[in-house]
Amino acid sequence: MTTSSAPGKVYLFGEHAVVYGEPAVPCAVERRARVTVEPRDDGRIRVDAADLSLDGFTVTWGGSIDDRPDIDVPAPLVEAAMKYIEAAVRQARDAADAPDAGFDITVESAIPLGAGLGSSAAVVVAGIDAATRALGTELDPEVVARRAYEAEYEVQDGQASRADTFCSAMGGAVRVEGDDTRTIDAPPLPFVVGYDGGAGDTGELVAGVRALREEHAFAADTVETIGDLTREGERLLAEADPAREPSEDLLSELGALMDFNHGLLEALGVSARSLDAMVWAARDAGARGAKLTGAGGGGCTVALDPTDETELALGYTAECEQSFRAELATEGVRVEE
Ligand code: PMV
Repeated sequence: MTTSSAPGKVYLFGEHAVVYGEPAVPCAVERRARVTVEPRDDGRIRVDAADLSLDGFTVTWGGSIDDRPDIDVPAPLVEAAMKYIEAAVRQARDAADAPDAGFDITVESAIPLGAGLGSSAAVVVAGIDAATRALGTELDPEVVARRAYEAEYEVQDGQASRADTFCSAMGGAVRVEGDDTRTIDAPPLPFVVGYDGGAGDTGELVAGVRALREEHAFAADTVETIGDLTREGERLLAEADPAREPSEDLLSELGALMDFNHGLLEALGVSARSLDAMVWAARDAGARGAKLTGAGGGGCTVALDPTDETELALGYTAECEQSFRAELATEGVRVEE
């Protein structure tokens, strides 16, 4: 039995604009997906994801992934999760040169589904790592990242950036600009996440921004401006000492950029009433800055606050179902004993 885990992430800056070649800075956070894999002799695939959503599901099917029977999935999000697991299995079979390999797969995840915290990337990254190891092949995290990107690309019909998968595989803070992916040094930023209990439809939201950008010059300018402020944020991070707690000045400057970034995302039409309410609750509580994270439409916000105030205030905010502190995860994909 082999278990691998991989972290979720928040976007410090740059979601959506990254789709058009602007840079983005996602940061891995200590909320992990764990995937346990046991090879089977009969070539079948059995997925137990009882922990993946409130309802959970278990399904077994034959050797070909494409033959998966229609199952009575409790929610569209679970159906989506299945597609990611299937794509991860395809990548693992290919990487280990074992096209007929069967697996018992157990997925456990502490990352809300489809909420902007990179749940699908974490499951795909951990899944590819665990399944290849179970077949005796060890892949470098960069290779896991590339294969996980290919899996996401397939499931999302070509609408995926390398941001989530690279960040989850490598851990820490990363920068992604087109095909150029690298890790960057960042101090331990005090992230506080607010979760509205819902999710946004990434494909629909990305398509909405694309249409707006084609129709209105302001939207194309807005995407470029997000790129500019991301570069400004990167400069601030590069000047900071990664081994030290961030200074109050750094937090205020990064926070201001996060506030601008949220306003620009709102202009692109990807925020939501619940996300705005959580962003304002965080700011009112003294957070140095706050924004939505990920595709938007619903899901999560991220704020910077070294004190407990934002987490407490979000706890009293009607639109917020869960709030938690999310430490920067310095480790990306890893084997769990
Ligand atoms: O909501 P998430 O975590 O899947 O992030 C989506 C980020 C986008 O920039 C909107 C799309 C992408 O693939 O980068």
